[in-house]
Amino acid sequence: MSDIFETIRRTQEAIEAIQPETAETLELFRIQYLGSKGEIKTLMEAMREIPNERKKEFGQQINALKQVAEEKFQAAKALIEAREEQSAAARFDLTAPGEPLPVGSRHPVAVTLNRIVDIFTRIGFSVADGPEIEDDWHNFTAMNTPEDHPARDMQDTFYVVDAQRMLLRTHTSPVQARVMENRKPPIRIIAPGRVYRNETISTRSHCQFHQVEGLYIDEGVSFADLKQTLLYFAQEMFGAPKIRLRPSFFPFTEPSAEMDIWLGTDTEKNYRLTKGTGWLEILGCGMVDPQVLENCGIDSSKYSGFAFGMGIERQTLRLYEIGDIRLVFENDVRFLRQFAAAL
Ligand code: PHE
Repeated sequence: MSDIFETIRRTQEAIEAIQPETAETLELFRIQYLGSKGEIKTLMEAMREIPNERKKEFGQQINALKQVAEEKFQAAKALIEAREEQSAAARFDLTAPGEPLPVGSRHPVAVTLNRIVDIFTRIGFSVADGPEIEDDWHNFTAMNTPEDHPARDMQDTFYVVDAQRMLLRTHTSPVQARVMENRKPPIRIIAPGRVYRNETISTRSHCQFHQVEGLYIDEGVSFADLKQTLLYFAQEMFGAPKIRLRPSFFPFTEPSAEMDIWLGTDTEKNYRLTKGTGWLEILGCGMVDPQVLENCGIDSSKYSGFAFGMGIERQTLRLYEIGDIRLVFENDVRFLRQFAAAL
């Protein structure tokens, strides 16, 4: 019987002498002393054989033993965990290169657009914006294309709310009207954006593309200003040495012209691109029709101006020598990735 007190004492000594250093030895310690089949549990079972007058003493000693074991366990656990944390921090190499993040890139159409905007902002044009869902007035009527005008057939579109004649804009020209209605000359704006046409039988079988509009209104703006501005653009954008203006028609400009740039025919590519003429059509332009100025509240006896508009995709194809326009609409990353370096 005194043996059991002796065993308790020795067990306590043993526990005090042990120092678990790893998670594994700590677990072995727990199983050996504190487990449901561990030594302390087994000692407690001896309670039955202890005479009543010593039961209290036995209980106290067992409890003390248990407490010593538990404290040892908690202290060792804290120590092991702290050590593990420290070595994890030491293993973490702050100088190691980070995980690479996939970097996106601008779409080639956006790159082209940015270049165009950049060229015009350098000579005093600022960027203007307008809604893609436009009303009939701004898209057509204010631009001198009243209802039943045959020129509307050239730009069929999608009507959103038929009763209110809301539609997807067919060109960026309505931004001209919106700017003129809200600002006083001098006006010098460039308006890039998305436009829509219902053209299933056209060579572009898609219904959405991008345009950039330009508008300059002031006193005494002449056709010479238009020519010089467009020549500057053609040189900056395409490195073209000269431009050609061919008479054309737009309801909102008078006179109207198409601008070609000179590429020449000395390379096979330029020969093919210009169909052997050396000239490539780039944009439509003209002097703003006085009626359009009046429609938008600008005194046409005092002010004059020029406007131009161009499709972006076509310029993108030329700049990057892309053979098929569908590629710029498909959003295939294998194609788009090639422009990652472009700004
Ligand atoms: N809005 C015309 C088009 O989409 C282009 C244009 C703009 C022509 C401005 C002249 C002046 O075809």
